[in-house]
Amino acid sequence: MHDFNYIDGQLYCEKVKVKDISRQVRTPFYLYSYQTLVNHYRNFEKVLSGSEHLICYAYKANSNLALCKILAEEGSGADVVSGGELRKALQVGVPPWKIVFNGNGKTAEEMELALQSHILMFNVDSKPELLLLNQMAERTGNKARIALRVNPDIDPQTHPHIATGLKESKFGFEFSQVIEGYKLAQTLRNIEISGIHMHIGSQITKVEPFVEALRKIANLAAELGSLGIKIEYVNVGGGLGITYSDEKPPTLTDYAQSLIPIIKEIGAKGIFEPGRVLVGNAGILATKVLYVKETQNKKFVIVDAGMGDLFRPAFYAAYHEIKPLQQSIEKPSTTGYRSSTIVADIVGPICESGDFLAKDREIPQVKREDLLAVFSAGAYGFSMSSNYNSRLRPAEVLVKGDRFQVVRERETYEDLVRREKEQIN
Ligand code: LLP
Repeated sequence: MHDFNYIDGQLYCEKVKVKDISRQVRTPFYLYSYQTLVNHYRNFEKVLSGSEHLICYAYKANSNLALCKILAEEGSGADVVSGGELRKALQVGVPPWKIVFNGNGKTAEEMELALQSHILMFNVDSKPELLLLNQMAERTGNKARIALRVNPDIDPQTHPHIATGLKESKFGFEFSQVIEGYKLAQTLRNIEISGIHMHIGSQITKVEPFVEALRKIANLAAELGSLGIKIEYVNVGGGLGITYSDEKPPTLTDYAQSLIPIIKEIGAKGIFEPGRVLVGNAGILATKVLYVKETQNKKFVIVDAGMGDLFRPAFYAAYHEIKPLQQSIEKPSTTGYRSSTIVADIVGPICESGDFLAKDREIPQVKREDLLAVFSAGAYGFSMSSNYNSRLRPAEVLVKGDRFQVVRERETYEDLVRREKEQIN
C-alpha cells in the first residue's frame, strides 16, 4: 500500500501533484511519502504487538536523516552497518539501547564509537571480529553485548546477489561453528552474550525460508541453553519482500504469525531489521525524458536519471514500474480510454551499456520533456547512488499531506570536487 495515486490522470504523492514539485526541484529527484512510511512502520508494530520485540530499521535501505528521524519518532530502533549509519541514528535521536551493529568488516574505530555509545549489541560475523571486539571493549572500559550472526544455510529463493544465508555466503558463522563461537565468547572477559542473529537475504517473497532458518536457530538456542548460555534476544534480520511488479510477498500478518511462535518457544525477545518493506514503496524517482531515439530494431527512451541514481536495474536486472507523471488519454476504444504504447528500453545518460532503468518495456508514447515516475524506489535507491561520470546526485524530497520539502539538496559542482586536489605539491 502506498500514497502515490493518479487523480484525473495526474500522479499525486499524498495531496501534492508530483508535477508541481518537478517545476521547483527539477529532475531527477527522489520523492518520499511521509504517510506511507509511517503506515508501514505502524503496521509492522501492530503485527508484532503481543510479543516482546524491537524493530531496528535497516539504515542501509535509505538513511536520509528526515526518514530516519520519522522512524525514530515512531519508536524504531536502528540496524547500522557503519560508523556513518551509527552516527546518523544517534543524530536523529535513536536511543543507543535500540541500536544493533551489523556487518562483516567492522573496524576498530567503529567498534570504539559503538562501545562508547553503549549500543544494544553487536551482531558479530566471525571469530577474529569477536576477538578484536573483546580487546576494544577492554580498551574502552566497556562490556560488549553480542549476538553471533549464524549462517543457517537456507536458500531464500531470491536474486543471488542478495541471498546471504547460503553456505557459500561471506556472512556469519558457519552453522557447524556456532556453538564453538559461543563457547569462545563465554571465555572472553569483556564480552556479554545477549542474542543470536540471522539474516538470510533480501526481497524474499515466501515465508518458508524464514521459518526454516528460524527453526534451525531455535535448535541452536536450545543447545546453547543446555550449555548454560542464555539467549535473551533472537534477531531474525530483515528480508521481507515487496511488490515491484506482480510479486505476492507474505503479508505482515503472515510473516509475524509464522515467526512469533518460534521466537516465543525459544523464550526470547524478537529483534526485526526491516528495510525494504518499510521504505521501498514509500518512494519514487522522478525523471525527465531527454530524447526518444529509434534505431532499426529498437526504441530508446533516454532519461535524465541513470544507474548512478538508481543502480538496481543495472546491478540486479531489477524490475521497477515506470509510468508517466501525466497519463495521456487518447483514443477512445470499446474498453474505455486507452493511450497508445511503445516498447522501448528506458536508459540513462551514463556511458555504460548496462545503464538502463527498464528493458523492452511497454510504456505509453512519450516525447522529449515528458516526466516519468520510477516506482518502488524508496529502498536501495538513493542509498546506492554514485557520482559516476561526475554526475551530481539527485535531490530527495519529502511530502507530508499537502506540503513538500527538499530533505537533501541536489549536489552541486562544488560538492563534486570538494575533496579533490588539482595538483601535487
Ligand atoms: N539486516 C541485515 C543484516 C541486512 O544485511 C539487511 C540487508 C537487512 C537487515 C535489511 O534487509 P531488507 O529488509 O531491506 O531486505 N541492495 C539490495 C539489497 C541488499 C540487502 C542487504 N542487506 C537491493 O537493492 O535489492
